[in-house]
Amino acid sequence: MNNRRAFIKQSALAFTALSASRVFGANNTIRVACIGLGGQGSGNAKRMASVPGVEIAYLCDPDTVALDRAKQAYPNAKTTQDLRKVMEDKDIDVVVVSTGNHWHVLASIWAMQAGKDVYVEKPVSHNIWEGRKLVEAARKYNRIVQGGTQQRSDPLQDEIKAFFDAGSLGKMKYVRCNHYSMRATIGKRTEPLTPPTTVDYDLWLGPAKDEPILRNKFHYDWHWNWNTGNGEMGNWGPHILDDLRNVVFRDKIPPPKRIIAGGGRFGWDDAGETPNTHFAYMDTGDIPVIVDFHNLPRQKGMKAPDVYMRRRTGSFLIVECEGGYYTGNRGGGSVFDPSGKKIQTFKGDGGKTHAANFIAAVRSRKASELKAEVEAIHYSSAWCHLGNISYRLGQKYSRDQAEAAVKDFQPWNDVIADFHEHLKKNELDDSKLDIRMGPMLEIDAQKETFIGETATPEALALLTREFRKGYEVPMNV
Ligand SMILES: NC(=O)c1ccc[n+]([C@@H]2O[C@H](COP(=O)([O-])OP(=O)(O)OC[C@H]3O[C@@H](n4cnc5c(N)ncnc54)[C@H](O)[C@@H]3O)[C@@H](O)[C@H]2O)c1
Repeated sequence: MNNRRAFIKQSALAFTALSASRVFGANNTIRVACIGLGGQGSGNAKRMASVPGVEIAYLCDPDTVALDRAKQAYPNAKTTQDLRKVMEDKDIDVVVVSTGNHWHVLASIWAMQAGKDVYVEKPVSHNIWEGRKLVEAARKYNRIVQGGTQQRSDPLQDEIKAFFDAGSLGKMKYVRCNHYSMRATIGKRTEPLTPPTTVDYDLWLGPAKDEPILRNKFHYDWHWNWNTGNGEMGNWGPHILDDLRNVVFRDKIPPPKRIIAGGGRFGWDDAGETPNTHFAYMDTGDIPVIVDFHNLPRQKGMKAPDVYMRRRTGSFLIVECEGGYYTGNRGGGSVFDPSGKKIQTFKGDGGKTHAANFIAAVRSRKASELKAEVEAIHYSSAWCHLGNISYRLGQKYSRDQAEAAVKDFQPWNDVIADFHEHLKKNELDDSKLDIRMGPMLEIDAQKETFIGETATPEALALLTREFRKGYEVPMNV
């Protein structure tokens, strides 16, 4: 047995007993370890620290620059580059995972095996298979596990649900989930990037493949390589699709029944692999869903993101109903009549009580009190992964074939028309681009796998990944 396995096995046993005996009173301090201290990790530390009775006790990041920065804010906290040290520390009650996506599940499972509760950033997984393992571990070790889709704690979401239940907009017809924002090329190096000398690269890489980094920036831009990230679909998607699953579907639809996606990475000759223009149709067996992401500007040279139907920009859930429509994002929501006149506004708080909701559940030991319990967020993350899988299996695009893939549903033709218009406005010739269109994947929601003709070895392989030696997500958690 290698050292790591021995450690996990031993700590799983030792800490199960510990966690069973750990009972928090309202006045006990909860000692939090923050794993990953980049942009979001620093914010998460601050948000956790602002909850009464919480102490930031351990800081962990393989980059000493991030560690030193965080240490200034929490001078009494211990520091380490190696998350396994955190797991070994029996004084730590809670682990906050804000690393790159490729680490989310393994870090969370190690923490649970060591008897700790977990707050894990979105997407809670890097692929669907490991996402299920995360849920299995939460159940097996009876842990409190919250996903980082903070808008679930916004009272806005319950207000919107009540509004829809009152039925004044009539039946829902379909939902469009848009994220239109501007991003830039990440560069393309001829010589691979050497990770900063302040980074323990083996620890940073964890479960991911050791492959040359050809982008210019080491941190953050890992989002745009499949090895570590999940593209915009797995970045903004987990927020928007989680709103959708909560507000519209009330968590009743795990993965959709069928999904098809297309798009590409256009206008930038760079080392990024994920699409910057990505559209998908999701057949939920209930209200149909269109997803659309644009990272190019509204038109070439313009410093503004794209707009939808000339009136809605940014990141939005748009629920089209018989008697009008609702648009909402993390800042709030509005209701419009069919002519586009705003008739009601809801104000959101951006989910600022999410950390407090988590800590309250850590004290009460009631996972049912969590606003973003890990299984719900596993499903929301899975919707995004499915959107990526169809795209990644894509073949050369033909507009006719794409339109024919979803019959008698005008919003699908609309999203395709928008796609071509968007390319044209960016002065990109669609006949010369590498546009991809994926298959209509059929999904067995129970088994979280593909069925039918599209259950090919290539499709099934994308439900999981090859884990780097020593950093495998275990089959049996
Ligand atoms: N909920 C939200 O609104 C929200 C917002 C932004 C980002 N996020 C999520 O937060 C995560 C982090 O995003 P970011 O923008 O901070 O990225 P980032 O690249 O700025 O930071 C990630 C940090 O994790 C560290 N890290 C990598 N491997 C580690 C390991 N083994 N142990 C400890 N630390 C490790 C990196 O060194 C880096 O400092 C992502 O999964 C992202 O999707 C969520």
